[in-house]
Amino acid sequence: MNVPIAEVLVDREALTRRIDELAVQITADYAGKELLLVGVLKGAVFFMADLARRIDLPVALDFMAVSSYGSSTDSSGVVRILKDLDLEIAGCDVLIVEDIIDSGLTLSYLLKNLRSRKPASLEICALLTKPSRRRTEIPCRYVGFEIPDKFVVGYGLDLADHFRTLDYIGVLTEEAAAEIVDQAGSLL
Ligand code: IMP
Ligand code: MG
Repeated sequence: MNVPIAEVLVDREALTRRIDELAVQITADYAGKELLLVGVLKGAVFFMADLARRIDLPVALDFMAVSSYGSSTDSSGVVRILKDLDLEIAGCDVLIVEDIIDSGLTLSYLLKNLRSRKPASLEICALLTKPSRRRTEIPCRYVGFEIPDKFVVGYGLDLADHFRTLDYIGVLTEEAAAEIVDQAGSLL
């Protein structure tokens, strides 16, 4: 497949290495406990699958799908739940698994929402973070990589649902990004 990538920010080897480190840390931090990973669809799917299999503890999985009102590249902070959890989380040790923290508005909403269900603990593990874009402070316990303010795709992250299956994190060429945004139009 001919992929219009201008720059690879995190390659496959770096992803594997960092996810191994995160899993070791999480395994130690939750020793003796059972962990419930809550993945945020769809971006976190590949990260969650790789991370979950490397954590050496009993792990349960659940997913939420949320949609943030706003444009393709800017979150408005108003979040709608498209798919809620299947499991009750009261009393559980819950770790939210997210692809990327940008403004932080989505996670701020999710934290508030999940906290109200009284889990025993609630933490965040994000593969990527763009600290310069933050509009609200998010207590994120585990972070894979800090990246600059660039729109990235791959390893679950998309632009209009394209490029999720790349096995690295990259930045699209400006022409390709513009063309996709143009084609997707009001769908975004
Ligand atoms: P926030 O509410 O602004 O933190 O938005 C977080 C969500 O926006 C992430 O879960 C992604 O779905 C999406 N997002 C933010 N930055 C990027 C990016 O660079 N590439 C792909 N999706 C992104
Ligand atoms: Mg997401």
